Amino acid sequence: MVINGKTKLIGVLGDPIEHSFSPFMHNTVYEKLGLNYAYLPLKVEKEQLGQAIEGLRALGFIGVNVTIPHKENIMQYLKEVSKEAELMGAVNTIVLTKGGYIGENTDGKGFLKSLKEEGFDPKNKKVIVLGAGGAARAVAVSLALEGVDQVCIINRTREKGEKIAQIITEKIGVNCTVHNYDDKLDNIFKQANLIVNTTSLGMHPDVDKMPPLNPTLFSSNHLVVDLIYNPEETKLLKLAKQQNAKTLNGLGMLIYQGEYAFKMWIPEEEVDFKKILDI
Ligand code: ATR
Repeated sequence: MVINGKTKLIGVLGDPIEHSFSPFMHNTVYEKLGLNYAYLPLKVEKEQLGQAIEGLRALGFIGVNVTIPHKENIMQYLKEVSKEAELMGAVNTIVLTKGGYIGENTDGKGFLKSLKEEGFDPKNKKVIVLGAGGAARAVAVSLALEGVDQVCIINRTREKGEKIAQIITEKIGVNCTVHNYDDKLDNIFKQANLIVNTTSLGMHPDVDKMPPLNPTLFSSNHLVVDLIYNPEETKLLKLAKQQNAKTLNGLGMLIYQGEYAFKMWIPEEEVDFKKILDI
């Protein structure tokens, strides 16, 4: 990839940013498609987000991703936030336009695409979400908007689950219940079609951890998704597989949230797929 005076700039704002997969993913695609764009990792501390955003405009960036710890704070600098991002309370993709910054959240869309690729249609299904942080909210909101019948949040801290449940019930109109890991969960698991782990339990290097669930709750009726992609197969997914559940990791979501962001920044007419094939 050659950077020159015509190169258009994109990036990701976060702290830490050293381990982000996004620069590699986007730059590889630009190179394969012969696009004159560059995607930069930009380490920005929490207190300097406002200045960084102004700097992006001055430098002519066409868009950025935002990640931890900026996904919520970024909202105050945006002219417009999509309905989905607003419900998720988080923005991960920004397009810089002359009129102002537009915020979107592509995590949910990426998650849904990875489910569809697996042949799973969320419509009218019953889902269990493990955890109640930012990732849980994005997953629960996207599933509710996609027409699931019921969301059940299981979380260590009930109050955090209740905050998400209130949004799902009152703003989207989908039934949402909240439970602890200590509750009797047999019936909930019996009725569920999809279980999604949004906690970081089991992520490298703590590969022996998992949410505190009895593995016999899983069955062949379930698709069990872990948003973790390192390791590729978490302890939770291994145990679910042993109970004959279908399993899926978070790699698809990671890639597809990037694909949706790519499509927001780069006009379709600039993308020439013949270049990928080198013909
Ligand atoms: P993110 O924004 O990436 O989703 P987060 O806000 O830190 O991350 O949320 C992590 C989730 O993992 C939370 O729901 C957390 O439970 P609490 O709400 O009770 O804090 C859950 N989690 C983290 N460590 C846990 C543990 N040891 N046992 C059970 N749940 C845990």
